Amino acid sequence: MEFGKITEEQVRQFSEIVGPDHILLPDQDSFEPYTHDETEDLVFYPEIVLKPSETAQVSAILKVCEANRIPVTPRGAGTGLSGGALAVHEGVLLSMERMDRILDIDEQNHQVTVEPGVITQVLQEAVIDKRLFYPPDPSSRGSCLIGGNIAENSGGPKAVKYGVVQDYVLNLEVVLASGEVIWTGANVLKNATGYNLTQLFVGSEGTLGIVTKIVLKLIPYPDKDLLMLVPFRSPEKACEAVSAIFKAGITPSALEFMERDAIDWTLKYIDQVNIPVKEEIQAHLLIEVDGHDTDVLFKDCERITAVLEAFDCDEILFADNARQKEDLWRLRRAVGEAVKANSIYKEEDTVVPRAHLPKLLKGVKEIGKKYGFQSVCYGHAGDGNLHVNIIKGKLSDEDWDVLVTKGIREIFTLVAGLKGTLSGEHGIGYVQRPYMNIVFNPTQLALMQSIKNVFDPHGIINPGKIFLSPQARDI
Ligand code: LAC
Ligand code: ZN
Repeated sequence: MEFGKITEEQVRQFSEIVGPDHILLPDQDSFEPYTHDETEDLVFYPEIVLKPSETAQVSAILKVCEANRIPVTPRGAGTGLSGGALAVHEGVLLSMERMDRILDIDEQNHQVTVEPGVITQVLQEAVIDKRLFYPPDPSSRGSCLIGGNIAENSGGPKAVKYGVVQDYVLNLEVVLASGEVIWTGANVLKNATGYNLTQLFVGSEGTLGIVTKIVLKLIPYPDKDLLMLVPFRSPEKACEAVSAIFKAGITPSALEFMERDAIDWTLKYIDQVNIPVKEEIQAHLLIEVDGHDTDVLFKDCERITAVLEAFDCDEILFADNARQKEDLWRLRRAVGEAVKANSIYKEEDTVVPRAHLPKLLKGVKEIGKKYGFQSVCYGHAGDGNLHVNIIKGKLSDEDWDVLVTKGIREIFTLVAGLKGTLSGEHGIGYVQRPYMNIVFNPTQLALMQSIKNVFDPHGIINPGKIFLSPQARDI
């Protein structure tokens, strides 16, 4: 694919479309944040950043780009962990940050219509005011944008009980590569009408079109919850306990796993959270139950505690006030950042059927020993979704590039053998493309590529993502 370079004439056209105050060029100071997201240490410069404020502007931009074969990379808040929002082929970086309106909260139908630039937590708080709930809550929810969550099909801790983004998206307005604007479906809870275009866009990592409006399903807000932090002497025993809890008939609203290093590094990284961790403790589960009746929740906690006793857990910390709950969640949500602050790292987003979690954890550690790398594991254990952070530490650059890449391939091969896959919620983006052939054969990959070609025949929308392409700068 040959891409066009942006000319002065096109800069003028773009400036006319979005207004001169809403374009950025690389020589401007405020350009730098748009050259990276939260993925490792990757940096790519787009030729221009455009910040449209309405669908018609996005459509006009796409028309210019399609006619001139200019790459368009959509971007939310840049909190992604797989490089999805990086302009790897330069061109236009289309920042959706100004399209940040909550257009309608429909209390009758339990739906909300928003633009893609709304911060996830802002959306959550707006609907909680009406006693309604939008559950998907990535750790970055205080800064990430809902459009990015749709692109990556995000999850977060609540997914274990309430599902991920795809379970809440009812309908999308999308600008296609041609600049045409479509709605993908209808604002309904059931839909057996043709192919499901809505769900095709969810998790498509901004490669099929630009989402400009989103209709989400809401549910009643569960206003009571209980939270406990459970220490274990053995990380594998902690993982074994996870499926036992579900087997006992309980569905927690969060069931998170943190290895010893994850908790230690995060306690050092954040202020004002003090949790005593005994020498022999090697892992924790953070378990939340929620609902509408505290007595029922206490009973759930008693049943969970009874299950946990068989897995050699230590004394359980019950968060008995709002502050303590907030501290524990602050701790959990900061693990990713704490690891990042500690060392150069690569983050893998492995996911397996939850009962295979102990095998996955054991395998990751064995592979680390074989190739000589340390890993810090944490994540959404209830979903079988383990974030594996591989730490560069004292590894040489060469070992980091060659050996660790081999080790990651081995981890993903293990994951595939356990009937799991490469990513539960962070996406493939730019960094995980080389591993797609572990979980998909050429026929499956060709089917996906054909879908991409139907929506984007000239390959201008977020090129260099999901699939390895000959032009992409390789890793
Ligand atoms: C988390 C993000 C990294 O679970 O997915 O904290
Ligand atoms: Zn996560």
